[in-house]
Amino acid sequence: MQRKTYTFSGKKTVYYFNAEFGLLEQLVDPTKAVIVTDQHLFNAHKRRFKGWKTIILEPGEEHKIQSTVDNIIQQLIGYGVDRKSWLIGIGGGVVTDITGYAASIYMRGINFGFVPSSLLAMVDASIGGKNGIDVGPYKNLAGTIRQPQFLLYDSSFLKSLPQTEWVNGFAEIIKHACIKDARLFKELEQNDLAYYRKNVEALGKLVQKNATIKSNVVLHDEFEQGDRKLLNFGHTWGHAIETKYALPHGHAVAIGMVMACNISEKLTGFKHTSKVVDLIEKYGLPTHLDVNKKEVFEVLKMDKKKVSSAMSYVLLDEIGKGVIKNIPLDKLEALINAN
Ligand SMILES: NC(=O)c1ccc[n+]([C@@H]2O[C@H](COP(=O)([O-])OP(=O)(O)OC[C@H]3O[C@@H](n4cnc5c(N)ncnc54)[C@H](O)[C@@H]3O)[C@@H](O)[C@H]2O)c1
Ligand SMILES: [Zn+2]
Repeated sequence: MQRKTYTFSGKKTVYYFNAEFGLLEQLVDPTKAVIVTDQHLFNAHKRRFKGWKTIILEPGEEHKIQSTVDNIIQQLIGYGVDRKSWLIGIGGGVVTDITGYAASIYMRGINFGFVPSSLLAMVDASIGGKNGIDVGPYKNLAGTIRQPQFLLYDSSFLKSLPQTEWVNGFAEIIKHACIKDARLFKELEQNDLAYYRKNVEALGKLVQKNATIKSNVVLHDEFEQGDRKLLNFGHTWGHAIETKYALPHGHAVAIGMVMACNISEKLTGFKHTSKVVDLIEKYGLPTHLDVNKKEVFEVLKMDKKKVSSAMSYVLLDEIGKGVIKNIPLDKLEALINAN
């Protein structure tokens, strides 16, 4: 087990990498904690929840909404949860986002920690303190920024993760490599998904490396004034098509990354779109989708990252070096139409 502490806004978040789930009862007293999880996790790992008060959510993004939060709050009241209690989110990004949000608002904020169980939650969603819910077609429109006290990584949860969710997680890993780490990009080119699924040690290192990349970006810009925006690589176009065409998040991001690479070729002189495309394909992700660009652009304009008549867009200078460019909306529309 490797213990690593990050201090965000003066508050410590402790990461327990390559740990075992049993550590949880040393971190929090089960009589003072409530676990929030979803039906898939609960069914696949029933034994682990024995002796814990548990709130079980319906799985899926469509339940990352206010009525689920209301329901959680009702159950917390039922369990007699007070200001000294803990919420523990065990699950994918839907569970960690909603648990962090419920914990941030219940009694104006109680303690919370995460046990991320999907690859995506391990390398991305559970890190950085953003939590919240979707509102209608707008993803993550309502929420708070508040860090968990701890993150417990136990890769044995991944044994039950469906293949499609492994693939989704790799979209964010490829994203990290593209914006921050050319060496990681090379490593990914040399291996493949089956290798990481078989090789527990390589997987543990990969998860830790990616959790560290994201944590370092957040550390330097917790409230997204600058560098944190880099993590939106592939996500501007990605979110817009995800909403409109009901795509899995990783697929949408993969297609969004290719769009961003193509725009980079025109604006930054980036020359390696084909390498990014090859890597995305190698990990079983799509690189293109025929869409109604005009309609998607309408959704994109509602993106939270919009700044008056221009939009900040994450591009690549080179592999491993993301840059943020402010692009006027009319120019952006023309660049998108040219693809
Ligand atoms: N807060 C952030 O900074 C941030 C960053 C990225 C993504 N997110 C959010 O994360 C969410 C996506 O995360 P996700 O892909 O983990 O989604 P998810 O929570 O929906 O998990 C995907 C599916 O895998 C199942 N699952 C998860 N772990 C499992 C396991 N170990 N065994 C069996 N099944 C398992 C879930 O039940 C679900 O069906 C989105 O809502 C997104 O907005 C948040
Ligand atoms: Zn994402």
